[in-house]
Amino acid sequence: MAMKKLSEDLIRQLKEKFFIDLKKVDSFESLEALKILYLGRKGEIRKLFHQLKDIDDIDERKRYGEILNSIVVEIEEILEKEFKRFKKDKEEYSFSLLEMSLPSANFQIGKIHPLQKVYNEIIEIFSYLGFDIQEGPEIEFEDYNFTMLNIPDDHPARDMQDTLYLNLPKTDKGKILLRTHTSPVQIRLMLSKKPPIKSIMPGRVFRNENLDATHSFNFHQVEGLVVDKNIKLSDLKGTLIYFVRLMFYEDIVCKFRQSYFPFTEPSLELDIQCLVCKGSGCSVCKYSGFVEILGCGMVHPQVLYNVGLGYEEYTGFAFGLGVERVTMLKYRIDNMRLFYENDLRFIKQF
Ligand code: PHE
Repeated sequence: MAMKKLSEDLIRQLKEKFFIDLKKVDSFESLEALKILYLGRKGEIRKLFHQLKDIDDIDERKRYGEILNSIVVEIEEILEKEFKRFKKDKEEYSFSLLEMSLPSANFQIGKIHPLQKVYNEIIEIFSYLGFDIQEGPEIEFEDYNFTMLNIPDDHPARDMQDTLYLNLPKTDKGKILLRTHTSPVQIRLMLSKKPPIKSIMPGRVFRNENLDATHSFNFHQVEGLVVDKNIKLSDLKGTLIYFVRLMFYEDIVCKFRQSYFPFTEPSLELDIQCLVCKGSGCSVCKYSGFVEILGCGMVHPQVLYNVGLGYEEYTGFAFGLGVERVTMLKYRIDNMRLFYENDLRFIKQF
């Protein structure tokens, strides 16, 4: 297409067109496109520069050259300003999403959950006593949870009311269930390792219970197991008395009471003096002055036999304590539900 001859008119028209185009610019990107359209190597102004050679008069050519140069400078300045504006807009836009100067929206600092705190403390005390930490699965075989622990088939603990069975095919180790206590980890441990064993096994357990002030369908236990030659009942008592003294306070009054568990013989329960009334009797201890904190006993010979450790060479003791229970006593919390609601007003008190 033939070019119109270079004239002041043509230059004025180009300038007007530039300003019209500039008005249409609405983004950083369209501004860049405009720059290329006018100042680029094949841009509008370059085209006019090319026409300079058709002007014969040397002074005339020089004059037009100067005019075109001044237009380049002028357009460059305008574009420069516009670029700055868009850049600022761009930054402002990204800042509007993250406005650093605004006060933060009611930001709450978390705290370690009281259960976790007590859990850690229990682990710390037993680690100090030389126990190592073992874990087992929450989904367990019936054999490990019951049978090998000497809990016979007709034991009430196996009742559907207590145990949550999974709807899975039966295995050669019995039905599959959610463990009702951490004691199956004892079995796993003794099957996998020769004594000496000195371990605690913390973890979550499940029972088919309704949630109320003192019950939950899932709670936490810390199991303990010591198996070696010459382990005696006095070792059990010494260990657990040491534990309650560190966990609660030095001169705490506690007593071992005879009890029954299928997997220990003899079986005991450890009671500590009620921390609420200091033994004088209140509703927490049901006016007995004492509260139960754990079950324990010497590992039943049948259990040792079941895991292939024989009756003679080894003896051991075991215990199982409820983390919720210890926490409730330690901090005088009277409702278990508070542990699971995650209300910061509660959690922040510890
Ligand atoms: N497993 C028992 C329970 O859940 C507690 C326990 C553990 C008792 C180890 C004795 C020995 O009630």
